[in-house]
Amino acid sequence: MPDTLTIIDNRTGKRYEVPILYGTYPTYGAAIRGADLRQIRVSEDDFGLMSYDPAFLNTASTKSSITFIDGDRGILRYRGYDIAELAEKSTFLEVAYLLLHGELPTIDQLEDWTCWIKRHAFIHENVKKFMDGFRYDAHPMGILVSTVAALSTFYPESKNVLDPAVRRKQAYRLIAKLPTIAAFSYRHRMGFPYTYPAEDLGFTGNFLKMMFERPGRTYEPHPVLTRALDVIFLLHADHEQNCSANAMRSVGSSHPDPYVAVAAAAAALYGPLHGGANEQVLRMLHDIGSIDRVPDYIRRVKAGELRLMGFGHRVYKNYDPRARVLKEMAGQVLEITGSTPLLRIALELERIALEDDYFISRKLYPNVDFYSGIICQALGFPTDMFPVLFAIPRVAGWLAQWQEMLEDPEQRIARPRQVYTGPDLREYVPIEDRS
Ligand code: CMC
Repeated sequence: MPDTLTIIDNRTGKRYEVPILYGTYPTYGAAIRGADLRQIRVSEDDFGLMSYDPAFLNTASTKSSITFIDGDRGILRYRGYDIAELAEKSTFLEVAYLLLHGELPTIDQLEDWTCWIKRHAFIHENVKKFMDGFRYDAHPMGILVSTVAALSTFYPESKNVLDPAVRRKQAYRLIAKLPTIAAFSYRHRMGFPYTYPAEDLGFTGNFLKMMFERPGRTYEPHPVLTRALDVIFLLHADHEQNCSANAMRSVGSSHPDPYVAVAAAAAALYGPLHGGANEQVLRMLHDIGSIDRVPDYIRRVKAGELRLMGFGHRVYKNYDPRARVLKEMAGQVLEITGSTPLLRIALELERIALEDDYFISRKLYPNVDFYSGIICQALGFPTDMFPVLFAIPRVAGWLAQWQEMLEDPEQRIARPRQVYTGPDLREYVPIEDRS
C-alpha cells in the first residue's frame, strides 16, 4: 500500500497524491506536509490551498525526539524513558542532562554537568541591583521574566546561537541562575537579605536554602521535602510542543540570544491557562473553603460560570501521569508538614468530577497542576511563586527544544500564514469626507 494521501478537489475535479510522513513508528505521529497542499489551486493566480488550524489543534510544527506524549493513554516519556520511572529513580539535574543530550549521563558526565551548573549559579551583582528596582509587591514571575531578559545584556556572546559551545555555556547559565533569580525575587518582596548559592548542597536543596534561610539561622533542607520538590522539577522539565515551548521555538527561530527567547517562553508560561494554573488551583481550593461546598462549586463549573482549575488538558484525554505521581507525593509531604483541609477538598473535587458525566464526556481529568500547588504550599511557597517553580525546571525543556530547532535543517524563521477576511482594496477617504 503506498504511503500517500489522495485528495480530490471537487472545485476542479483534479486529483493529487501527497506523501505521508511518519515518526519513528506510525503510532508516534503521521502527517502530510502543509506545503504539499499549495499545489491545489483553482487557477494559475490562486495562492494555493493552506490548512486552517487556529491554536494548532492538529498541526505538527516540528519533528522532535525529545518528549513523547500519548494523551489518550496517559503516557509521557522523556527521550523514551517513562515519566513515572524517572520520577522514582532519577533526579531533576540528570533529567535536564537527558533532555539536552538525548542520553542519560555516565557517573563522570553527571559529575561534570552538576559541577558546571553549580559554578554558574551566582548572578552578577548588577543583576541584583535590577531586581532591587522592582516594587515591593511585584509578582515574582514578572521579576523572573524581566530579569532573565536582562541577562541578555550581560552575555553578548550568547547571540552566536549557531555555535554549539556557546549554546552549551548559556544552558549551564540559564539552568543554574533561574533558581537564584527565583529565590531573590521572593526575598526582595519579603525584604530579606539575599542568600547566595551554596555549592555544598544539591540543586534543589540549594534553592530551598536560598528561599527560606533566615538571617542568623542555619537552614537544613529536609531530605523528603527536597526530594518532593526535585520530583516536581523533574515532572515539569519538558512537555513537548506546549504554549511556552512553542514560544521558545518561535522567538528562537529569528536567532536572538537564548535569554530573551527564554523570557518569551516564561511569559507564555505565566498565563493562567498554562503555568499559572497551579496558582489558580490553590485560589480555587481556598475559595471553596470546605468539603460541603464542593457540590455547589461543581454545579457552577457545569453551568459554565467557572472552570475547574487543574482539570483538563489539550493533549491528555486521560489521567495526566504527572498528576498520578504528585497525588501520592502530596500525601507523603503532608505527613511531614502537617495536613491541610485543601488536600481533602481537592480529593473530594476529584472524586465528584471523575464520576460526573460533564467531566467524563469531555474527558476532563486532573492535570499536573491539580496536586502540585498543594505540595508547593505545604513546602512553604506562597502561591504567586508557583509559576516560578514551574519555570525553573522547564528552562531545561525550552533549551532542548531550542537546540533541536536550531539544529534542524528543515526549520526556518517561524512565520504562519493566514486566511484574510478583511475588506478588499478600497480608496483612502479624506477625513472631511468621512461620515
Ligand atoms: N473546567 C470545566 N470545563 C472545562 C475545563 C475545565 N477545567 N477544561 C475544559 N472544559 C470544557 C470546556 O468548557 C469545553 O466544553 P464545551 O465543549 O461544552 O464548550 C470542553 O471542556 C473542551 O475545552 P477546551 O477549552 O476546548 O479545551 P482546550 O484543549 O482548548 O483547553 C485547557 C485545555 C488546559 C486550557 C483547559 O482544559 C483549561 O482551561 N483547564 C483549566 C486550566 C488548567 O488547569 N491549565 C493547566 C494545563 S496543564 C499544564 C500545562 O501543561 O500547561
